[in-house]
Amino acid sequence: MAFISDTLSRVKPSPTIAVSNLAAELKAAGKDVIGLGAGEPDFDTPDHIKAAAKAAIDAGKTKYTAVDGIPELKQAICAKLKRDNGLSYEPAQVSVGTGGKQILYNALMATLNPGDEVVIPAPYWVSYPDMVLLAGGTPVSVEATLENDFKLTPEQLEAAITPKTKWFIFNSPSNPTGAGYSHDELKALTDVLMRHPHVWVMTDDMYEHLSYEGFTFCTPAEVEPGLYERTLTCNGVSKAYAMTGWRIGYAAGPKELIAAMRKIQSQSTSNPCSVSQWAAVEALNGPQGFLDDWRKVFQRRRDLVVSMLSKIDGMTCPTPDGAFYVYPSIAGLIGKTTPTGVKIENDEIFAKALLEEKGVAVVFGAAFGLSPCFRVSYATSDEALTEACTRIQDFCASLS
Ligand SMILES: Cc1ncc(COP(=O)(O)O)c(C=O)c1O
Repeated sequence: MAFISDTLSRVKPSPTIAVSNLAAELKAAGKDVIGLGAGEPDFDTPDHIKAAAKAAIDAGKTKYTAVDGIPELKQAICAKLKRDNGLSYEPAQVSVGTGGKQILYNALMATLNPGDEVVIPAPYWVSYPDMVLLAGGTPVSVEATLENDFKLTPEQLEAAITPKTKWFIFNSPSNPTGAGYSHDELKALTDVLMRHPHVWVMTDDMYEHLSYEGFTFCTPAEVEPGLYERTLTCNGVSKAYAMTGWRIGYAAGPKELIAAMRKIQSQSTSNPCSVSQWAAVEALNGPQGFLDDWRKVFQRRRDLVVSMLSKIDGMTCPTPDGAFYVYPSIAGLIGKTTPTGVKIENDEIFAKALLEEKGVAVVFGAAFGLSPCFRVSYATSDEALTEACTRIQDFCASLS
């Protein structure tokens, strides 16, 4: 009898973390590597947020807190949801966890029974299907193709729903494509969901504040108030406020679900870090002006990467609406061979050869459920991006 559980045998380790680790190892071994794999802003956490954390330490706010968040943070989250999204929640409808990741995991653990299906548009954030598997459910992936700007159509959603569907996971702007759904596009999806009252919506709004010119962020319960009672609106401070290491994520939804999520957290990790919670209060209640400056920097980098990768024969690089990723297709390069004789049969081989031959680390598309593509994270300096894109251009030009 195997010692490790059967459930775990179905789950893969995170490929994005694996790419970052490999790039770090190669760098440590002295190789000139540019890492475009990481999913975190390269900015530092703003000083006023750090100051709030230091003040919390000095004030002795270093003990256990309420399992799913201090009242001050829950209030700040309610105020944020009202201010930015027009959504009314009270603190009892809010849960705070150790990162957005724990929040999503708690919600799936709290609701899935064997056989329950979760509809996930692909390409998806790598953790969704594996979290569903860990929670005993069945991920149902539906391909949102390049031809439709990596967005799910209402017809596809309709076709994917069965009597066993429990959740629809929605993520806009998306990791890995940066695709964002307009109000009308989202409304077309929520119209489908209104016809299926047994399906709940888990919306992952992590990249809300990383939305660029011409795109206005919207979230399902805002676009269709009829879904409020069966929507879990998830968000966090990791990406927007450059706070990935602080580990604070949150969700708002029906009280019964929030209570079930609290029960799981109470028997696993208990409260998220007390000091980080005070930092998150400041992030949400404090000045927001710097977000505009960051957005401008990210948009400039996006345009730099898209323009350089679009020049490559055989590559198609759509312009994303948000987040800090681009997701080019390499359909036109499949079947070619590198100067060292490696045949590019798929995106995993492409990414490996690019790393070995040019020292550029990207994440292959199969990890996100849609090939043949790769993900570039442009949350790094303009200089590094220019050098990396030049190397990608050279690499692709060298294929025959
Ligand atoms: C779409 C999406 N959701 C959730 C998360 C998790 O965020 P956190 O670092 O707060 O756990 C990430 C992080 O990469 C993400 O890209």
